[in-house]
Amino acid sequence: MKPIRKAVFPVAGLGTRFLPATKAMPKEMLAVVDRPVIQYVVDEAREAGIEHLIFVTGRNKSVIEDHFDIQAELEATLRERGKLEQLTILAEDLPKPGSTSFTRQQTPLGLGHAVWCARELVGDEPFAVLLPDMIMQGRPGCLTQMMTGYETFGGNVIAVEDAEPEHIHRYGVVGIGEQTGNLFEITGMVEKPSREQAPSNTIISGRYILQPEIFDILSDQGTGAGGEIQLTDAMITLAQTQRFTGVRYSGHFFDCGSKVGFLAANVAFALERPDIAPHFRAELQRLTRLSPDPS
Ligand code: UTP
Repeated sequence: MKPIRKAVFPVAGLGTRFLPATKAMPKEMLAVVDRPVIQYVVDEAREAGIEHLIFVTGRNKSVIEDHFDIQAELEATLRERGKLEQLTILAEDLPKPGSTSFTRQQTPLGLGHAVWCARELVGDEPFAVLLPDMIMQGRPGCLTQMMTGYETFGGNVIAVEDAEPEHIHRYGVVGIGEQTGNLFEITGMVEKPSREQAPSNTIISGRYILQPEIFDILSDQGTGAGGEIQLTDAMITLAQTQRFTGVRYSGHFFDCGSKVGFLAANVAFALERPDIAPHFRAELQRLTRLSPDPS
């Protein structure tokens, strides 16, 4: 079984749900407490043993490349001023030299197309895909939990969770076969189904381990839901010949591409930070008492 060494981060979306904040600033660079959203996702990948980070970027995204590079002037100033703690944080967040690659998705044709744009950088080996606007709270990280599914069954692995029936039309939904602990065989997939079409209430959470054959399928994948080239549609074809395993991970995901998800992530991550949690909790209680319900 080939190890999973590479991870793809598709960061070329337009982030229209977050306009005007995302007009010039990628949504992946918005801060949750004091770290950009993308940093949490990269940390999750590195914790799972990923050695090479592949970013599929678009226009206005060069700031992501800058974030994962050395800022010589800033570091010199921090050193001069004796701000060693901040210097350590920057050093810890920096990927090893030569372990990042950036390629462009010239037109945002959909998630499936963005993943296909990474084909030359991934090559002929299984790889991970992490949606960079989904961040996870919990230990170990979601991708680490998925590696157990990969080591057990090989093939393709998808992180899943249960959702309220009224929300499933926004997600990819899976059919559930034979279960072993928190792992199960996926018997079908459908992207953004109506309630009647959905095979279950179990949705795809934005983390994937995929075999390289997905690229051939994506190369002539037509548009699907929302007029976009959907990764789920290509996975449906791949599932005709290869196993897909679902992993019910333990932990909680926040969809930072939505306003409520992003705000909730800020509250959740602030409340687990010992340096700010006591003050922040008091402030939250004060605001909740003061603010009338706008509805
Ligand atoms: P979203 O569905 O969140 O789309 O994409 P979006 O364009 O980023 O945001 P909204 O819906 O307009 O607010 C899920 C992930 O897939 C990436 C996005 O960057 C996001 O991380 N993506 C999506 C691409 O890289 N390229 C695309 O063409 C579409």
